[in-house]
Amino acid sequence: MVKTILLRIDLNSSIKNRCVVENPRFKAHAQTIKEFKKKHAVVLLSHQGRKGGSDYLESLEQHCKLLNKHVKVKYVHSLFPDKIILGLKKGEVILLKNVRSLDYESKEQSATQHSRTLLVKNLSSVCDTFVLDAFSVAHRSHASVVGFTKTLPSYASKLLKKELKSLSKLKNPKKPFTVVLGGAKLEEALILLKNLKADKFLLGGLVGEVGLAKAGLKLGKKDCLLKKEFVNGLKLSKKVFLPIDLVLENKKVIGINELPVNKNPVDIGPATIKMFSDLLKGSKTVLMKGPLGVFEKGFSKGTLSIMKSVSELNALTVLGGGHSTTVGGKGFSYVCTAGGALIVYLSGKRLPGLVNLKNL
Ligand code: 3PG
Repeated sequence: MVKTILLRIDLNSSIKNRCVVENPRFKAHAQTIKEFKKKHAVVLLSHQGRKGGSDYLESLEQHCKLLNKHVKVKYVHSLFPDKIILGLKKGEVILLKNVRSLDYESKEQSATQHSRTLLVKNLSSVCDTFVLDAFSVAHRSHASVVGFTKTLPSYASKLLKKELKSLSKLKNPKKPFTVVLGGAKLEEALILLKNLKADKFLLGGLVGEVGLAKAGLKLGKKDCLLKKEFVNGLKLSKKVFLPIDLVLENKKVIGINELPVNKNPVDIGPATIKMFSDLLKGSKTVLMKGPLGVFEKGFSKGTLSIMKSVSELNALTVLGGGHSTTVGGKGFSYVCTAGGALIVYLSGKRLPGLVNLKNL
């Protein structure tokens, strides 16, 4: 029997000059959509940014265009298009407008509370089954993530189950386990440093700079940007490796013995690239999360070189982390497109979006 599948995907992307930058999530979700549309009609729910944020867009029309590179989907600028949904035939797929245009969508509430919202009641009356395809939103107790689990038969998609299987291997990793941490999300990095059973942590990006400050070095211009709480929170040990040289914004390479400087560091230097690549050798499990330099401004050499070293290992290699996965991931065993959800999962906390799915 042809059913109408309500599929929660995550097309949330970086926005540059009001244009959506496609990320690997699109292709991954397209695979799930293709599977379901063989036998069913599909209604897609997703979000972009948060109201008031610079990356918020009410319309998902641009996302729909990008999704159409992989699978045929029609955009409907409404969250309540009952007649259109009831008229859908097998193989037809529609994407609704940004679900976060409804203020109650992103309230952190229980599944039962969300099941009483107009969005959930209405879509439940015109769809047959709810499927969560987006691991990247599973840490949110939002209406479109948890609400339908109280009103419709609800399942995890194949993609979501596969993501969970790969990530579970990071909780009990084959040793040696090396974690490469970069990016600017210091809170997340501290959680991973605390919770992962790694043999080595290689730090770059802002995380690496915080490490250098913790080691007692004065960076110079950057010092005022490094919050004390993070410097205090980061624990150094013989498992933690910091950059030994840095690239500055004027492209000059300096050894850390030349600090402090009146220019911002923007990448790890060639000696650090060599040291990190050597330290990675022999690893059986690797998680790389966050770029090691300011890649969006073209300082990507450190990140790309270490990615290459990781991808050449005979190991389980996972690239984690939201929008930064747009940088690459070729040759990794698994590219996890989730940012925040990955952190919550690896810190051992429960993800509300997974709680009521029947097949987990
Ligand atoms: C993400 O990009 O990590 C997800 O879409 C979640 O977005 P959020 O942090 O705005 O809830």
